[in-house]
Amino acid sequence: MYNKIDIRNVPEEKLDEIDLDTVDLELPPPELEPHRQYYYIAKCRTYVRQMAQELGRVPFLCTQTFGCQMNARDSEKLEGILEKVGYQKTEHEEEADFVIYNTCTVRENANQRVYGRLGYLGSMKKKKKHMMIALCGCMMQEPQVVEKLKKSYRFVDLIFGTHNIFKFAELLCTAMESDRMVIDIWKDTTEIVENLPVDRKYSFKSGVNIMFGCNNFCSYCIVPYVRGRERSRNPEDILHEVKKLVADGVVEIMLLGQNVNSYGKNLEQPVTFAQLLEQLEQMEGLRRIRFMTSHPKDLSDELIAVMANSKKICGHLHLPLQSGSSRILKIMNRRYTKESYLELVERIRAAVPDISLTTDIIVGFPGETEEDFQETLDVVRKVRYDSAFTFIYSRRTGTPAAAMENQVPEEIVKDRFDRLLKEVQEISKEMSGRFEGTVQEVLVEEVNTQDPSLVTGRMGNNLLVHFPGDASMIGSFCRVHLDTCKGFYYMGTPV
Ligand code: SAH
Ligand code: SF4
Ligand code: F3S
Repeated sequence: MYNKIDIRNVPEEKLDEIDLDTVDLELPPPELEPHRQYYYIAKCRTYVRQMAQELGRVPFLCTQTFGCQMNARDSEKLEGILEKVGYQKTEHEEEADFVIYNTCTVRENANQRVYGRLGYLGSMKKKKKHMMIALCGCMMQEPQVVEKLKKSYRFVDLIFGTHNIFKFAELLCTAMESDRMVIDIWKDTTEIVENLPVDRKYSFKSGVNIMFGCNNFCSYCIVPYVRGRERSRNPEDILHEVKKLVADGVVEIMLLGQNVNSYGKNLEQPVTFAQLLEQLEQMEGLRRIRFMTSHPKDLSDELIAVMANSKKICGHLHLPLQSGSSRILKIMNRRYTKESYLELVERIRAAVPDISLTTDIIVGFPGETEEDFQETLDVVRKVRYDSAFTFIYSRRTGTPAAAMENQVPEEIVKDRFDRLLKEVQEISKEMSGRFEGTVQEVLVEEVNTQDPSLVTGRMGNNLLVHFPGDASMIGSFCRVHLDTCKGFYYMGTPV
């Protein structure tokens, strides 16, 4: 019927555009990535088409994403592949034929949520035999998790980790051809595979990975163990991806990495994060640049200067504090002190006066005393964050802090947590209100979910504004007068 093509001969750039039904599957799979994955996508398509015929309808996929922005971006890649394979997205797990959980393990409660929902999925699968269940993400990199799944959750079809996510199409194919649980977990990787399909959640904004993994080994944190060593993408690949996104209608990007301030240090030709930003600044059509996350120890004066001079970098910086006690920071292996953090904040505010600062704080790290906690409150009062994520310390197996003997009793931690939250919220409310009466540029994101005569947009500093409008405005910029602040968002009027 078709002239079959040898996928190895397709230029990498064009892979996303070819008709996958013309790929010659009689040929062996290519060795080279990403060609190999496109070959397997084509192969999976034949299985899914068969399933669609048997079902008499399009099969549905449902992704559940836990954790950080990095996972959210990974899920867009998983969905990109699943859609090419022939599944259609649904929000409802109940009607899905393929369910994938992209997991997080940074705190214990993230894990518990996954186990809880898996039980429910298992009961669904009993009624729907053809249904497939896949698990991936950070939790899968923990051997004890995989053991538990093997023992008590036999109905899961496919388990893979963070390092081989680029092989998803191939693993999916293996799972479709097998009636056993398929498990593939790698310990680490140096590979970065570019140009795989992506299905973006928003047409006008996108996350862009600039680096993977983390080398910092903060003593409480499991991320370096489950995401591996730090690897930066080549600046040319990043610029190329952003250029393609902009051509496709994206006006705002969020550069993603566990520690963007150390971007580029290990490249063959080292580049600084500030230099990468300067190159992105030049890109025509790109309007807003955000990034996440900045480690205070690596935030350079060069970066502060670039931020001060930029017209595109948003006036928002997420600068995780974790603790305000220099003593605890040392045991956390954060490599800055209370004083150096405060001094850094001063330098940033001097260069970018209106900047919104947000942070992450952990309460109840092993050995934290009331005095240490008071130091944290002191920093919160001095910095006056626009908002702060507060976390109760969670003991993660395998991290140095988990082995420390002086774990803080739960009641004490809860009490400190409540006091911190109260302080953070009061300040946040005052800080959020400081733009009242001004006119700001807002990127419209969606029609308001409560009131369809309004749209909801985001300011550069990340705050939301609701104002009169309609769906045709989504993805465009509006100048909006901020009439009233309602705590953590504004009501406005377009000018
Ligand atoms: N790379 C980022 C953080 C990624 S994890 C950074 O260094 O800033 C996101 C947040 O989860 C961290 O900032 C920290 O506040 C919190 N977190 C990490 N491990 C935790 C643990 N064991 N218990 C509680 N919170 C934790
Ligand atoms: Fe975890 Fe620290 Fe790395 Fe952030 S910098 S991911 S907190 S080890
Ligand atoms: Fe969680 Fe992994 Fe992100 S552990 S916070 S999803 S890097």
